[in-house]
Amino acid sequence: MSRLAFVDGQYVPFAQAGVHVEDRGLQFADSIYEVFAITDGKPLDEAGHWARLERSLGELSQGIPMSRAAFAGHLRRMIHVNRIRYGLVYVQVTRGVVRRDHPFPAEPIAQTVIMTARQTSAVKARDLAAKGVGVKTMPDLRWGRCDIKTTGLTANVLAKQEARASGAYEAWLVGADGKVTEGASSNAWIIDAAGNLITRDLSNAILPGITRTSIMRLARERQIAVVERAFTVDEAKAAKEAFITSAGAFVMPVVAIDGTPVGGGKPGPVASALRADYLAAGTATA
Ligand code: PDD
Repeated sequence: MSRLAFVDGQYVPFAQAGVHVEDRGLQFADSIYEVFAITDGKPLDEAGHWARLERSLGELSQGIPMSRAAFAGHLRRMIHVNRIRYGLVYVQVTRGVVRRDHPFPAEPIAQTVIMTARQTSAVKARDLAAKGVGVKTMPDLRWGRCDIKTTGLTANVLAKQEARASGAYEAWLVGADGKVTEGASSNAWIIDAAGNLITRDLSNAILPGITRTSIMRLARERQIAVVERAFTVDEAKAAKEAFITSAGAFVMPVVAIDGTPVGGGKPGPVASALRADYLAAGTATA
C-alpha cells in the first residue's frame, strides 16, 4: 500500500501531496503544528496535543479548522491507512492560501490542514535510549513566543544542525539569563544531588511540552520531587542525571554535555525508569 498524506480534506498519495505556492505557512510560517507519537498503533497523550494545537491557533488569531473529534478521526485514519504501529504523525495548520501580503487577509480564508505519517524503529529508539545521547549548548537565538508551536523553526533547525555536525544528538539552548531554556526540539531536565527533578518553569521562553506534563505526573507518582526552575550549564554538567523529553524521543537520557560526561557517562536509573513508565502508561491508557 502506498503512503498517504492528508491535505485539505483529501487522502492523497504521498508523492503527489503538496500545498499552493502562496500558502501562508510557506510564505510566512503563519502556521502551527503538532507531533503525535504512535505506539502499538495508538497516539500517546492525544488530548494534550489537541489542546496545545487549539491554543497555538488561538495565539496566532487563527480559527480552529475542524472539531477535535474530526481531527481525532483523521489521526486514526492516517494511522490506519499508513499501517503505523510505531511512529509519528505530523499535523500542520496554516492560515491558508492568499495573495502575499504580511497582514492577515481582510476576508476569512480556508485554512490549510496537512497530516503526514511515518513509521519509525522501536528497536533503534530503544538502543539509543540504552546508550544515551550527547547535547551541545549554544545561544538561544529564537523569538519571544517560544510557547507557541509554530512552524517558524529556522533557529531550531540551525541549532540542531550545529549539534549534529559536532556529533551531538540535540542542542541545548541557553537563554539571555545564562540558563538552559530547552532543546531544539525537546524539553531539558536534570536531577540534582538530592534527587530532585528539575526542569525550566513555563513561560514564553519554552514550549510547554506535552511529554513534560506527563513526566512530571509520573515522577510525582514515584514520590520524586519536581522543581520547575531554570538551571545553568555548569549545574547540568554536575547533575546526577540529565535527559530530554519530546513526542519523538519520549525520555532520552543525556550522558554528555559539550563532551563532559554526565552521571558517569551512562543513562541514569531515574531517566530509564521514567521512560519505561511513560511507555507503559501510553499503551495502557491508549
Ligand atoms: N518537538 N520544545 C521544543 C522546542 C519542541 O520542538 C518540542 C517537540 C518539545 C517537546 O514537546 P512535546 O513533549 O509536546 O513533544 C519541546 C517535536 C517533537 C518536533 O518538533 O518534532
